[in-house]
Amino acid sequence: MTESNDLSAPDRPHTVTVSLGDRSYEVTIGAGVRHLLPQVIARLGARRAVVVSARPPRWAPETGVPTLRIPARDGEVDKTLATVERLCQSFADFGLTRSDVVVSCGGGTTTDTVGLAAALYHRGTPVVHLPTTLLAQVDASVGGKTAVNLPQGKNLVGAYWQPAAVLCDTDHLTTLPPREWTNGYGEIARCHFIGAGDLRPLPLHEQIAASVALKAEIVGADERDTGRRHVLNYGHTLGHALEHLTGYRLRHGEAVGIGTVFAGRLAAALHRIDQARAEEHLTVVRHYGLPTALPPEATPEAVLPLLRRDKKATDGLTFVLDGPEGPALIADIPAETVAATLAAMPTEAAVTD
Ligand code: GLY
Repeated sequence: MTESNDLSAPDRPHTVTVSLGDRSYEVTIGAGVRHLLPQVIARLGARRAVVVSARPPRWAPETGVPTLRIPARDGEVDKTLATVERLCQSFADFGLTRSDVVVSCGGGTTTDTVGLAAALYHRGTPVVHLPTTLLAQVDASVGGKTAVNLPQGKNLVGAYWQPAAVLCDTDHLTTLPPREWTNGYGEIARCHFIGAGDLRPLPLHEQIAASVALKAEIVGADERDTGRRHVLNYGHTLGHALEHLTGYRLRHGEAVGIGTVFAGRLAAALHRIDQARAEEHLTVVRHYGLPTALPPEATPEAVLPLLRRDKKATDGLTFVLDGPEGPALIADIPAETVAATLAAMPTEAAVTD
């Protein structure tokens, strides 16, 4: 943990509303908020619940209604259609109806997979997420994107299915291993450049609340990712390529940290921002203890073909880049500028501090 992992809690939880008309919901952030689950379930009027949990039983809260508990494992390996089918079969065996509720308790891979099972079961059953990692609390569990992987790639099969509520219990974070912290900080660091301002001086629960509030505002404006929501992928274009190239040795947030530094340098190379702002990218990413140098595998020759395959790259090489009017999706960036910016990045072996 770094000094910014201060988990001292305020007296009252933070509440952020994701405003989507009759599908609006609240994200509640604070110590012990998992114990609000029975109240949430009573408000939904559910008569049964299925709790799918990657956490030991003492962490998965009471529901107040007859409950089927299904153990799960966080990690990409179980993020499959086979898991979704197995979950849906258990829901059916238990007699779950679409007036009942599914609860996910785990990291982002668990909230994604259980969210998709809930989206598909009876064509849509309410789901409540209890994210237990920093990454899942600040990003994955909020906004309604659910998905599983195919052998061909990550998150290729999914649906938009907004949760009925999200309970971000910061007590879960007390047991996070160090790399899970940096994994989450990658998503907090990128918020600095997409409208959250400087979150570094704030206590952790306020950083989480501010990251969620920014995401809620963006999702409220562009639920289906047709424009504004792209900014949430700041630093992710190179980040995804680095995850792939390193065989997932780099965690998502770590790769996003390096991608954020690169996005600053590329924006400066395209004269969208000045050198001081590009330098700020490095300073912020470093502050959160994230890596800032390219792994040795990331030569321009290896990276460029992966960047061309990015989901946003419909018009040549495309990145979300900072600029005079804030971050924007910039298409058709010359390959030679991207290659030169990559070549000028420090590589892991060259970093001594
Ligand atoms: N994680 C990016 C999004 O929710 O759009």
